[in-house]
Amino acid sequence: MSGTFDGPHVAIIMDGNGRWATGHGLSRSAGHEAGLRTARNIVEAAVREGVGTLTLYAFSSDNWKRPGAEVTALMRLFRRALVGEAKRCLENGVRLTILGRRDRLPSSLRHTVEQVEAITSTGSRMHLRVAVDYSARDAVLRAAEAMRGDTMSRDGFSDLLARTDHDRLPARDVDLVIRTGGEQRLSDFLLWECAYAELLFVKTMWPEFTAADLAIALEDLRSRNRRFGLAPEQVAS
Ligand code: IPE
Ligand code: IPE
Ligand code: MG
Repeated sequence: MSGTFDGPHVAIIMDGNGRWATGHGLSRSAGHEAGLRTARNIVEAAVREGVGTLTLYAFSSDNWKRPGAEVTALMRLFRRALVGEAKRCLENGVRLTILGRRDRLPSSLRHTVEQVEAITSTGSRMHLRVAVDYSARDAVLRAAEAMRGDTMSRDGFSDLLARTDHDRLPARDVDLVIRTGGEQRLSDFLLWECAYAELLFVKTMWPEFTAADLAIALEDLRSRNRRFGLAPEQVAS
């Protein structure tokens, strides 16, 4: 359907839950709980702001290396969040899909993922992608293997890459990456899709990131002069 998921593709590295919690005398798990509350607010704000696709980095493949108790708490939290958010997504016209490997997720979580994706599949206002067990480099490697030596256009490879990580919708390059928590790196997130993304690094820890911060980031995106390799005078202002 034309017009579906119009609006920019915003990708957020939701970093800083642990440091925020420690700074408030709380456990890291409490930080992740607070991070989930922020994610809920930001999803609703993104819908209101006209974001077309929102990709949230929730758990990287390297995050498996964290202490077992933190990983278990995070997996429980994802499952609870998915169950709790499905109805709200449906009401807001949000199509929710999970990006990343699935074979290493607990089977109960995998099952919930499939259910929630089916329930929200009619959403056409915003596509919400939550990256779990996600590694951009692994995804590129797996997509390259799937080519089996064939040649392919960039767009074709983008679609193959998305399908490799279970996204069946047409691939979209990222327009804006926001990373909270003060670090200025991509930590293996959407390396192919961010070729021309605008980057915004903010010091705010993720639990304290607000809808107003998102609005400022989108305003900043609108003011940027994106040239995609052209000379400035070739680009309409
Ligand atoms: C981001 O917050 C959430 C996940 C990686 C799961 P962190 O847990 O990385 O928080 P910091 O960076 O330690 O503060
Ligand atoms: C990136 O954050 C992953 C997520 C936000 C889910 P990390 O906290 O794992 O990244 P590094 O270790 O600081 O690069
Ligand atoms: Mg971190």
